[in-house]
Amino acid sequence: MTVHNIHYTAVTRGHAEAITLIFCDVYGAERQQESAVIMKLCCHSNCFGVVSFDADYPVGFILLQQAGNTADVIELCVRESLRRQGIGRHLLEKGLHLGSKHGVSLVLLEVEATNKSAYNLYRSCGFELAGKRPNYYRRRAKISDALVLKCHLR
Ligand SMILES: CC(C)(COP(=O)(O)OP(=O)(O)OC[C@H]1O[C@@H](n2cnc3c(N)ncnc32)[C@H](O)[C@@H]1OP(=O)(O)O)[C@@H](O)C(=O)NCCC(=O)NCCS
Repeated sequence: MTVHNIHYTAVTRGHAEAITLIFCDVYGAERQQESAVIMKLCCHSNCFGVVSFDADYPVGFILLQQAGNTADVIELCVRESLRRQGIGRHLLEKGLHLGSKHGVSLVLLEVEATNKSAYNLYRSCGFELAGKRPNYYRRRAKISDALVLKCHLR
């Protein structure tokens, strides 16, 4: 199912607070410290992304950081209550499109090996497995591997 009243807009400095709010609501206390980094990156000149709103309510975002013709997906997330409605896919597609316009030809990201939702989404949008980083994540007192995915943009 796809929701139609969601709108998408390119991230500007003015969205930093809304994006940080989504990040904190999605990840909670566990990743509280990282929210300051997300806030800073929203204002950084080498970062770009897309944020989605349901009316005025911020519901999801994708944030990428560019270095030359490569960009890393820093974060992609959608509020839990609005998942499986196509918002994540729209954010990713629009983020990649924006990347092309910024001169990006290769997008890289890391995803927790157990994160099937995100992995399926990335694979269905053209990402391929590029490598594996053992014991990369140390969260919830749990250690897990990261899969490195890559996507070549045309
Ligand atoms: C990953 C995430 C952004 C997906 O957002 P979403 O809005 O639910 O995604 P969509 O509705 O656009 O789904 C797109 C595709 O993703 C995959 N997917 C999404 N949720 C899934 C689930 N629960 N199980 C399996 N596949 C899933 C499917 O391939 C789906 O396509 P389909 O609906 O045609 O089957 C969302 O689950 C999220 O915010 N997760 C927490 C944060 C996170 O893990 N981010 C990734 C960091 S690397």
